[in-house]
Amino acid sequence: AEIAIHTEKAKKISNMLTGVFFEDINYAADGGLYGELIQNRDFEYSLHDKKGSDEKWNASMAWNGDFKIVKENPIHVNNPNYAIISKGSISNFGFDGIALKANDKYNFSVFAKGTKAVVRLKLASGETLAEAKFTPSTSWKKFDLILKVSKTVNDAHLEISTDGETAVDMVSLFPQKIFKNRKNGLRLDLAETIADMHPKFVRFPGGCVAHGDGLHNIYRWKNTIGPLESRIPMRNIWNYHQSMGLGYFEYFQFCEDLGAEAVPVLAAGVPCQNSSDGGSGQQFGIPIEEMDDYVQDVLDLIEYANGSVNTVWGKERAEAGHPKPFNLKYIGIGNEDLISDVFEERYKMIVKAVQQKYPEIIVIGTVGPFFEGTDYNEGWRIADELKLPIVDEHYYQSPGWFINNQNFYDSYDRAKSKVYLGEYASWGNKFYNALAEALYLTGVERNGDVVTMASYAPLLAREKHTQWNPDLIYFTGDEVKPTVNYFVQQLYGQNPGNHYVESTLRLSDNNDEVRKRVAVSVVSDEASGDLIIKLVNALPVAVTPAISLDHLAPTKNVTYTVLSGNPELTTARPVTQQLSVATALSKELPPYAFVVMRIKTK
Ligand code: AHR
Repeated sequence: AEIAIHTEKAKKISNMLTGVFFEDINYAADGGLYGELIQNRDFEYSLHDKKGSDEKWNASMAWNGDFKIVKENPIHVNNPNYAIISKGSISNFGFDGIALKANDKYNFSVFAKGTKAVVRLKLASGETLAEAKFTPSTSWKKFDLILKVSKTVNDAHLEISTDGETAVDMVSLFPQKIFKNRKNGLRLDLAETIADMHPKFVRFPGGCVAHGDGLHNIYRWKNTIGPLESRIPMRNIWNYHQSMGLGYFEYFQFCEDLGAEAVPVLAAGVPCQNSSDGGSGQQFGIPIEEMDDYVQDVLDLIEYANGSVNTVWGKERAEAGHPKPFNLKYIGIGNEDLISDVFEERYKMIVKAVQQKYPEIIVIGTVGPFFEGTDYNEGWRIADELKLPIVDEHYYQSPGWFINNQNFYDSYDRAKSKVYLGEYASWGNKFYNALAEALYLTGVERNGDVVTMASYAPLLAREKHTQWNPDLIYFTGDEVKPTVNYFVQQLYGQNPGNHYVESTLRLSDNNDEVRKRVAVSVVSDEASGDLIIKLVNALPVAVTPAISLDHLAPTKNVTYTVLSGNPELTTARPVTQQLSVATALSKELPPYAFVVMRIKTK
């Protein structure tokens, strides 16, 4: 293959092209990124979650002992249930057993009243790995204790025992090793795996989670802030319980810790497919007379993120521990909605209110999923009317679709809204899928003047608790298993540019099926001065590129990374070496390979 790079012909592209889309699906929040190790710590699982309030709690009572869930005088009205243990113990196995590390410390906390009690971390064999005592009195009090663990295990449980009668609520256990040492923080290994992708933005909390599966299931950000015991938990659209322990404050903090832009997505005043709570088929939106309040909620979120400490919501943020504004720039309204009249009326009300009160905020609209029979064109019509700066597009397709549609954005009208490709994935976690995605992303980079952001979806999935496959990063209680697709995302994330450099690719074989399986994308990064060449070879044969880039000294340093392997397997991993420009530019591309060359020019 002959590749000519024309460094003199460059266009500006988005400098935040790749990021992540975090949705609470597949136990991504509770039991996932959220550091809490106890499941149903607040006894608020409900029949609505298809669970009882004692779910995940086992009782082992002494003779005559008792364990019950009651509601009288709770620690907070939003958290009505708590447990009373009488002469016995209750235990919690977390999410499939609690994973603990030898010599690590864990922060245990509990609200309690009654008689003295003991907390232990134990194994099924009866072995105790750590223990501590607490002595409550007649009124609710919070206890904070440190448990140091003697053994590495992944199947422990937490047990609270009393000889008398003790009431407990908000029974919590966090590892002290937590991402950026934040209070109420995020699981270290998972957060670091996300951070290693160098995401430029984080979209949250969904997807479908944002608009829910009925009016009462719309995600309300105000229910997710403030003291943990005052947050309002809810079943999510994926049919499990969200404690809201990972709420809007924690999302904003995570974005800041990652150095990524926050992209919160709020429902457009309608639930998923304008559905009703009972699934009657009738179209539903928030009643028009309640829309002013809903619009105000959206505006209040911007104040919560950016307002001074003298504003109502800025003060709430300060009280949560962040007096400085989070500097929110983006807000998403709507997610893959059915574009009905009910939707359009509410969507326009919200968007116009934000545009009017906060013209500096970039509103990202929705045009729904892209496939036949959807409202994609209708979504674009409204985007034109509202002059939206960006719209959110989604598609999940076969690897073949991604290979055949590399030019998807070439003909997009540059005068219209820009695109945030908020969700995409090819159907699978084999290396062939990852390669198809890498190929497609060369086209996205080429169109980085119209595509401002792109995020693979979904991001996280706890093994044995997945509602959606494929995902980018699988995990268990003690292991993180990034997929091969993850490494493609990581290589793009770690090697962005802010200019797209024109290049031409000539292959000796002119067959279209061959040509579309080899792709190149060249970007330059102003800050480092680096030139980055990405090459994809999805052919079963090696390709020898002859790359002409004559203005660089042949001895300049190149960080050369290859991700290659059997397309049917999931085992390919990036391998990096340092080469001279002369060697790197003529190096053979193995069959089925994604190569990133990062060339130092300064
Ligand atoms: O990513 C999973 C789901 O796919 C999202 O919740 C939704 O937006 C899309 O349909």
